[in-house]
Amino acid sequence: MNRSSKSAQDLDPFRSEGDLNLSPHRRAWAGENISPATQRMLDEDAGYFLHQSLSTPCLNALKSCQGAWIQDVEGRRYLDFHGNNVHQVGFGHPRVIAAIKEQLDELSFCTRRYTCETTVALAKKLTELAPGDLNRVLFAPGGTSAIGMALKLARLATGRYKFVSMWDSFHGASLDAISVGGEAVFRSGIGPLMPGCEHVPPADNRHCPFRCGDACNLACADYIAYVLEKEGDVAAVIGETVRSTPFIPPPDYWKRIRAACDKHGALLILDEIPTALGRTGRIFACEHYGVVPDMLVLGKGLGGGIFPLAALLAREGLNVAADRALGHYTHEKNPVACAAGLATLQVIEEEGLVEHSREMGGYALGRLREMAGRHPLIGDVRGLGLLMGLELLRRRETLECATDEAERVMYGALRRGLNFKVTMGNLLTLTPALTISRSELDQALSILDECIGEVEGTRQA
Ligand SMILES: Cc1ncc(COP(=O)(O)O)c(C=O)c1O
Repeated sequence: MNRSSKSAQDLDPFRSEGDLNLSPHRRAWAGENISPATQRMLDEDAGYFLHQSLSTPCLNALKSCQGAWIQDVEGRRYLDFHGNNVHQVGFGHPRVIAAIKEQLDELSFCTRRYTCETTVALAKKLTELAPGDLNRVLFAPGGTSAIGMALKLARLATGRYKFVSMWDSFHGASLDAISVGGEAVFRSGIGPLMPGCEHVPPADNRHCPFRCGDACNLACADYIAYVLEKEGDVAAVIGETVRSTPFIPPPDYWKRIRAACDKHGALLILDEIPTALGRTGRIFACEHYGVVPDMLVLGKGLGGGIFPLAALLAREGLNVAADRALGHYTHEKNPVACAAGLATLQVIEEEGLVEHSREMGGYALGRLREMAGRHPLIGDVRGLGLLMGLELLRRRETLECATDEAERVMYGALRRGLNFKVTMGNLLTLTPALTISRSELDQALSILDECIGEVEGTRQA
């Protein structure tokens, strides 16, 4: 597809992962809010960095971040309901920073072929927390790399090369990850991708091609079983336990897929890079579904929102590649990243952030549902812990996406001090720090309420 011939408004398939950095609403917001000094900084950034969707040219420049907040260089503060989902413990948590400083003073790097106490301690802690016999760990400097390790291990362990994954899913931006991923903005015009990757419809009862609607009978899960049987030699099914949009599969979805994997000798890889560590009100999202995958991938907030760190957890029986390199990463055992990880897990435990996420999420969901009763623009409210989303629809009957409205709500919220992203064109994706207080949450929800009302007001005018 020749993307350069399309206007920003035409690029709808490319809105899957987030709002566009080229839209007219972005320009209008910048015109009102970005000072000449900040604009010079943004221009300098745009002059050095390769431009790409969803990042450069950038929206704004940050000066600091603390707790649930980010602050721009002009001193404006925003409750950050985006945070790339790294901020389970909030930004700049003092315990995490202290652990990093301490580790820096003692052992700042771990040369290959050596291990160190902190790295082993983090691996041990993760295996203790993980469900079932996910007793083996590999660290990587980012989620995408951890996904790559999972795919390689699945091939080595099964002797098969095929994967089944979901349309609209995201597993990272590398060539292997986009091969199993299902979003046009990453896949389009960049192939050929990895062979043997078959995509199936995701669990999304609003847009499901099986048209189950509210009478969902898990046809999408049964279709995966069908594909596994027909192919006969699939190495693994890989999926996001819960999409961070969010899309929350029905209760029996993963159980049915787990059973199909077992029947057909395929492994199950669950990607919980943005959703593990309390985001959904459980340490791991798969706990909601009562399934244990063969491999579980986490990342993002594992590094305390400071260090890039991801982990592949695998079943004991998958320790089968001793003579191969699964993830020969330079920072495979980085002690500073692991110190951040250990401190993060301690903070999550000691501050009761999983329970807090559940409690605050339940409260927020109630308020969002109440808002949906008053705002015709809100077509659906979804949430699991502090992973929340509002779907904006122009007409509920036709499911017509309110794409333009969603962007206007987003920029309206930015003007009032709330930062979040719009995914798939019309989904307001709301993921605050798990440390957020009830009053901060109320503040954010009131902003949202006001912005949606404002956009509805202009629609009716
Ligand atoms: C579900 C999911 N998988 C994989 C990744 C890739 O992680 P990273 O950006 O750390 O490589 C992301 C990042 O947004 C993600 O949300």
